[in-house]
Amino acid sequence: MTDSSVFVRVCALSELEEDTPKRVELDGTPVSVVRTEGEVFAINDICSHANVSLSEGEVEDCQIECWLHGSAFDLRTGKPSGLPATRPVPVYPVKIEGDDVLVSLTQES
Ligand code: FES
Repeated sequence: MTDSSVFVRVCALSELEEDTPKRVELDGTPVSVVRTEGEVFAINDICSHANVSLSEGEVEDCQIECWLHGSAFDLRTGKPSGLPATRPVPVYPVKIEGDDVLVSLTQES
């Protein structure tokens, strides 16, 4: 058995519009699922600077921007590109199976 059992379906791929984050909850954890540049990413939906939903921000250049103070987080690594946020936001592995988007809350290192 592989670790594939920890991947949980969060939405359909066809539901995701390019560069429009979708907020889902996985085991009580808010996650922003983003389809951009031909890939799908999953990042914790809460900004590391304050309790703000990142899925309400804009997506550009594989980053999601916090609408409150403007820190942008890399969707691949969760790292902020600039202040005021200094800490990364957790990102999660994504798998696509047919039209299903699956996310694992196991953090990528
Ligand atoms: S709350 Fe996100 S940058 Fe301040």
